[in-house]
Amino acid sequence: MKITAALSHGADTPFEIAEVDLDEPRADEVLVELRAVGICHTDLTMRAVWPAELSPAVLGHEGAGVVAAVGANVRAVRPGDHVVLSYRRCGACTQCAAGHPMYCHDFRTLNATGMRPDGTTTMHRDGAPVYGSFFGQSSFASHALAYETNVVVIGADVDLSIAAPLGCGVQTGAGAVLNVLQPGIDASLVVFGAGGVGLSAVMAARATGVSTIVAVDPVADRRTVAAQLGATATIDPTVDDVVDAIRELTGDGATHAVDTTANGTVINQAVTALARRGTLALVGIGAPQIPLDVGNVVGGGKTIRGVIEGDAVPQDFVPQLLALHATGRLPLEKVIRTYAFDDIDTAAADAADGTTIKPVCLTI
Ligand SMILES: NC(=O)c1ccc[n+]([C@@H]2O[C@H](COP(=O)([O-])OP(=O)(O)OC[C@H]3O[C@@H](n4cnc5c(N)ncnc54)[C@H](O)[C@@H]3O)[C@@H](O)[C@H]2O)c1
Ligand SMILES: [Zn+2]
Ligand SMILES: [Zn+2]
Repeated sequence: MKITAALSHGADTPFEIAEVDLDEPRADEVLVELRAVGICHTDLTMRAVWPAELSPAVLGHEGAGVVAAVGANVRAVRPGDHVVLSYRRCGACTQCAAGHPMYCHDFRTLNATGMRPDGTTTMHRDGAPVYGSFFGQSSFASHALAYETNVVVIGADVDLSIAAPLGCGVQTGAGAVLNVLQPGIDASLVVFGAGGVGLSAVMAARATGVSTIVAVDPVADRRTVAAQLGATATIDPTVDDVVDAIRELTGDGATHAVDTTANGTVINQAVTALARRGTLALVGIGAPQIPLDVGNVVGGGKTIRGVIEGDAVPQDFVPQLLALHATGRLPLEKVIRTYAFDDIDTAAADAADGTTIKPVCLTI
């Protein structure tokens, strides 16, 4: 079928809004008519590093929409279901079987090679491949082919522009707190980077009553929003000594921290600022190799833990997040700004320069 998609040709070239051919759903595929798609920093990173030989490509991995058709073997969803799209998993490897599909052995194959695992592309233009299958969706488009493992059915009354970012950015930040760190009321949590992921961590910490929540970000507007969302203090790393400021606020240091910056200097600040037996969750993607004060980690009994997708199984966690939102404890509308799909270049630029925390493009 003919669909409209935002083709990526690299970070320095504008998106090309174009008509392309999308395959009819195969037996295991779900055709989703998209209504909204969030932009996550991972889209910006992948757009910049995407191999030229796999271009043009359709990125986008925070899609939400309505199921239009399903393949013969699909049981989990039906046409008309409202769905949030998330990451794809194999369902059979040791990590999937153990309930940790975000560490699926086939994660890369299923989410980031630009094609189906058999090497075919779901899209073409004038007979030439258009690469996609990004997070098993490629949702910078009017329609996407998804799979049973990465569709989450939600209520038809849920605003799809609010639901879209649950599939990655919100799930990642909130899950790092609720599923991994699980700070208690007396904890002190420091969030490095107050973007879509970091502020989701702030909202989740606030929702669970964590008493000290500190947000670190050089962008003044983001620190302001962090305070509105429940941060009890904010730090401007361009002005303050971050480690000293955290010690002043917490005494012994942070019991818990989340890094969303993927910046080596920041990660070292986070390790140093941890309290004894504190835990740092690393979620930023693309961090360089960095020196680490191992003695400080050992002597302090500190834990450094990588986290993918908030350790969340989307079919379980997205409904929990929607329930939090329904009770006002995950006020996502405070970080979301909507854009017309044709304005995706503006949306991406606003995400990159910090103007908008969570851009969501409306595909219809
Ligand atoms: N692990 C996962 O599964 C997963 C999932 C989603 C996103 N991510 C990654 O998480 C990261 C954050 O994503 P996002 O969408 O929130 O991005 P974002 O760009 O909105 O947020 C990053 C924030 O870091 C801030 N920052 C920059 N330098 C800083 C410094 N020195 N100290 C403190 N803050 C600083 C920026 O101002 C920005 O607000 C990205 O690397 C993204 O790829 C990982
Ligand atoms: Zn697996
Ligand atoms: Zn993402």
